[in-house]
Amino acid sequence: MRAVLGRSMSYTILKHSLAEHILSRLRDVGTDPETYRRLTKSISQLLITEAARDLPTKSVTIQTPLEATSCKQLADDLVVIPVLRAGLGMLEAALDILPGASVGYLGLERNEETSAASAYYSKLPEIKDKMVILLDPMLATGGSAEQALDRIYSGQPKNVKLVCIVAAPEGMNLLETRFPQLDIICAALDRELNSKKYILPGLGDFGDRLYGT
Ligand code: PRP
Ligand code: URA
Repeated sequence: MRAVLGRSMSYTILKHSLAEHILSRLRDVGTDPETYRRLTKSISQLLITEAARDLPTKSVTIQTPLEATSCKQLADDLVVIPVLRAGLGMLEAALDILPGASVGYLGLERNEETSAASAYYSKLPEIKDKMVILLDPMLATGGSAEQALDRIYSGQPKNVKLVCIVAAPEGMNLLETRFPQLDIICAALDRELNSKKYILPGLGDFGDRLYGT
């Protein structure tokens, strides 16, 4: 499904049997951290492949063993940025698919009482005029993504895509208001947040499940 909200923010909910299967295992309370890391990498490969579907290309001439032919290659420099901690689980998949990308890191943590995110680390490469792919498996209130995107857009990238696994309507609505130029790719748009701002039905605390904390 691909939908356009408001002026131009777009979101894609990946329709793929394998992604649905993996997501069911990620939701399952019985899935252990070792399996969780493997499943996170697998679903991230599908999501990042989808995110890369319309990356700009340029024509190049390639010599095959038989003759010269015109081909397409990716045109722009890429930067992938995982949000620590949970986004780290998606990074290896991104670099397998986009091995030439530079990597930036943003550390953001939600306060357990207020759910407000605060930044504790930032190390970004040059992102001016580059294609940026932001990785964070959970979009709940949207507060973490909002802070990450404020930081990224201040660097004047050419385009930004947010790849997440599960999104909530509350987070989608916030990002639509704040960043109409953003593209979001996710595996599921869940129902709502609970009183502690966890996604329902969701899958719990992603970072805890990924790292066994
Ligand atoms: C999780 C998740 C997002 C954030 C989403 O991180 O990885 O960054 O929550 O929630 P929000 O949309 O309401 O901001 P968390 O703060 O739990 O940190 P962690 O990845 O270090 O566990
Ligand atoms: N962060 C998570 O890890 N899970 C949620 O449901 C919400 C925020």
